[in-house]
Amino acid sequence: MTKLGVNVDHVATIRQARRAPEPDPVSAALLAELAGAHGITVHLRGDRRHIQDRDIHLLRQVITTRLNLEMAVTPEMLQIAMQVKPNTVTLVPERPEEVTTEGGLDVRTHAEEISAAVRQLHEVGIQVSLFVDPSESQITATAETGAQLFEINTAAYAEAVPLGLDEHDENFEQQLKKLEACAHHGESLGLRVLAGHGLTYRNVGHVSAIPQVEELNIGHNIVSRAVLVGMERAVREMLEAMNA
Ligand code: PXP
Repeated sequence: MTKLGVNVDHVATIRQARRAPEPDPVSAALLAELAGAHGITVHLRGDRRHIQDRDIHLLRQVITTRLNLEMAVTPEMLQIAMQVKPNTVTLVPERPEEVTTEGGLDVRTHAEEISAAVRQLHEVGIQVSLFVDPSESQITATAETGAQLFEINTAAYAEAVPLGLDEHDENFEQQLKKLEACAHHGESLGLRVLAGHGLTYRNVGHVSAIPQVEELNIGHNIVSRAVLVGMERAVREMLEAMNA
């Protein structure tokens, strides 16, 4: 069975829109665990646009599955990771103006810096995963850093999914083949294979079917659906509160 890491960043996005106490991503994480999630993922950004430091400290204390902290390779983030000790750190590139993570790490170019971060995190018992584009040379470079896991960026695959999933589309087939080849390549190097970014209820099936992919990290689409499937109940409860 493919495992699911639920990314609760966008619960925090709604909270930060009002700088209000609700909705709390910590509560969302606990509910995700009750529903069977195998892990909780959060991205602590340099600009703190969604997840806050308080969230990761609380999550570390209360979740009973695994905490995966996504972060950029910066001295500030490394220090926080060493303090909080998540089960896994996923190193990602970060550009301050980006709407979301725009691509994978360029592990080949930044091999030295990334290898040093991997060593530092391993020393305190934190597993390290590198978020990389579906490129075999980046995956080879990942193995050379000493990281034991990598997460294949599925964004290009997700963007290529045709409207009617059954319709043949060459770009889609190509993107899926790339993911499959990279998963196979990673496994042949002894790496554990994860995948994520842009996955939805519609497009997830082909990725979870790749035998080497042990876990998916999914956030935005789950939070989007939670807002909609919860809307009727939330309105009913407000009417009850108004007319109690
Ligand atoms: N994996 C990584 C490395 C990410 O940066 C993100 C987005 O924070 C995700 C997975 C989840 O992507 P999405 O929110 O599109 O499901």
